[in-house]
Amino acid sequence: MIDLSIRREGLAHNIRKARENNVIIPTIAQMQNPDLIPEKIKAKLAHTDLWAVDPVNLFRINWHNEPKESGGLFQKVPNYVEIPPELSGVPCRILAMAGKWFPTGCHKVGASYGCLVPRLVTGQFDADYHHAVWPSTGNYCRGGAFNSKLLAVDSVAILPEDMSRERFDWLKSIAGRIIATPGCESNVKEIFDKTWELKQDPSMMIFNQFAEMGNPLWHYNVTGTALAEVFEAAKKPGQRLAGAAFTSGSAGTMSAGDLLKERYPYAKLAVGEALQCPTIVNNGFGGHRIEGIGDKHIPWVHNVRNTDMGIAIDDEDSQRLLRLFNTPEGQKYLKEELKLSDEQIEKFTWMGISGIANVLCCIKMAKWYELTENDVLVTVLTDSAVMYKSRVDELNEMYGPYSVFEASKDHALHMLGLKTDNMLELTYPERKRVHNLKYYTWVEQQQMKVEDLNDQWYKPQVWDEVHAQAAELDKLTEAFNEEVGLLARL
Ligand SMILES: Cc1ncc(COP(=O)(O)O)c(C=O)c1O
Repeated sequence: MIDLSIRREGLAHNIRKARENNVIIPTIAQMQNPDLIPEKIKAKLAHTDLWAVDPVNLFRINWHNEPKESGGLFQKVPNYVEIPPELSGVPCRILAMAGKWFPTGCHKVGASYGCLVPRLVTGQFDADYHHAVWPSTGNYCRGGAFNSKLLAVDSVAILPEDMSRERFDWLKSIAGRIIATPGCESNVKEIFDKTWELKQDPSMMIFNQFAEMGNPLWHYNVTGTALAEVFEAAKKPGQRLAGAAFTSGSAGTMSAGDLLKERYPYAKLAVGEALQCPTIVNNGFGGHRIEGIGDKHIPWVHNVRNTDMGIAIDDEDSQRLLRLFNTPEGQKYLKEELKLSDEQIEKFTWMGISGIANVLCCIKMAKWYELTENDVLVTVLTDSAVMYKSRVDELNEMYGPYSVFEASKDHALHMLGLKTDNMLELTYPERKRVHNLKYYTWVEQQQMKVEDLNDQWYKPQVWDEVHAQAAELDKLTEAFNEEVGLLARL
């Protein structure tokens, strides 16, 4: 459960600071249903840029944002990309909900909000005293730094030094301080070590997405609901939701699958990782290039007992397809050979590297379960190709100039040719094995209690209790806004 006990002094400071900085904060209910957002806030959004460092953009932590760089409001159905069978090679429908239209260009801004808000509205985090520390492989700390700036909170971003240049460039303009730790995507242990060092200073409050239950709370309630809306809007008569697949970084997004499995009894839930770091499928380890996922450990917030399948994706597949979707020659192939429309081709640029990996997970899952045109799989596109322009340049340098012929080869080898290898349907003992891996990170290294670890397994209702805390959190958020007093004066 998330501790929602009140600390009066910190709360008073946060309320004063919010008032001074013109901050009104959204509820989970408003994130689920933007019709609940006051009209006067929408009027402000109508002339605010999507990425503007303006507190009103807290209301754009929402899957329903219109796909506009500026002035966008909300639409009924979240943005999604459909992967047609001529591209995927499988008859099953694959719908991928897009994170590109969140401020920061990535849905991780929601996970960081979910982690910060419980401590902000209770006063456990004191904006006059604490610095918010955001350990991450990139997007979570970008979201955390962004939210901190909007909420007038001082921030420290921690991320591995090998992450893409785009992540660092933008962070420099937002975060109070940036700490680059050694290594790449899968070097989370080094990040954890840095946070232990920072923790010696009591003014450093760590928001560890891998362990904070605000992360699954947000995704279960907000991402899960939005994915169900996408399915309901897109489904044709006779089609059923066959499942969902998400690559895991912090495993926050995985909890959207918990909601889908409750609503759709046939749905299977798969977790993806990099073949070069197959911790779930094979207790494996290693460096890889699917930025944002797969960190040689099992996150504390992953509800492993509810996960049906593990899928390892070769990082070469997602890199090759990134180039296919984001070069003129690749796009020419999609248009002329596959006869896809300009709109479809434009939407494929909404897929970042992990988004492509998510789609590949769906394709492998469709092959494994022999899904048909009556089946629908859903996933998310955490960020878009905008974050990886420098990676496309690097690939062009590494592999030489691209061509329609190369694009056709990439499509055949890295998408159509996918097999049901490197997949594991998780039996009860297999799930237990994966869950048990948490012991080494969380109990041995990070001082979590073994009783809590056992509760996650033997009392699965602990997950339901966290998900249900959204209602109490919303009450605290409403009380916070009322004390700040800006809503009434809008
Ligand atoms: C680009 C990208 N993809 C995927 C993920 C994984 O999402 P989650 O942390 O919810 O598992 C992240 C997490 O930071 C990410 O940045």
